Amino acid sequence: MELYSSNDSYKLYKGDMRNMLDVIKKESIDAVLTDPPYELNFMNKGWDNSGIAFQTETWQKCYEVLKPGGYLLAFGGSRTFHRIACAIEDAGFEIRDTIMWLYGSGFPKSMNIGLALDKKNGIDNRTGNIKTDGGVGGGVELLVMIIMNGKENMKKE
Ligand SMILES: C[S@@+](CC[C@H](N)C(=O)[O-])C[C@H]1O[C@@H](n2cnc3c(N)ncnc32)[C@H](O)[C@@H]1O
Repeated sequence: MELYSSNDSYKLYKGDMRNMLDVIKKESIDAVLTDPPYELNFMNKGWDNSGIAFQTETWQKCYEVLKPGGYLLAFGGSRTFHRIACAIEDAGFEIRDTIMWLYGSGFPKSMNIGLALDKKNGIDNRTGNIKTDGGVGGGVELLVMIIMNGKENMKKE
């Protein structure tokens, strides 16, 4: 892990979060707030296609460093948040609430039907030669924030 930035009140590290969680003292953290990959293969970025957010082990590492009663807030995209929520729940957390953030502008991350049809028909839409609407512009976006907690109520077997 690389110490990226710091001052008297914070330290910001850069690197794979799993390595960081391995060295943080168990039950020492009050809250985890994260915007993990939504696993949508966003713009063919490898980081959005690793499966890390769907893996229970990822969230078990968060669980271990949280103090009893600690909270975890995780963002998710509208199409895959349920899988993230299940992985977090399987790690031992309890879903306490779900916040939906609905807005009518910004970068749409829902499925673009035109691009999906191109893909189905074998057209490589990365070449720029597609005939469909690229989906840029306003769209209704639904972001989901899952609030998990209840360590003190959890009886992990
Ligand atoms: C949904 S994006 C977060 C975007 C960010 N909230 C923003 O507004 O720019 C998910 C981020 O997780 C990062 N990421 C993926 N795997 C990671 C890992 N193992 N450890 C740390 N960060 C990771 C990716 O690089 C990406 O920036």
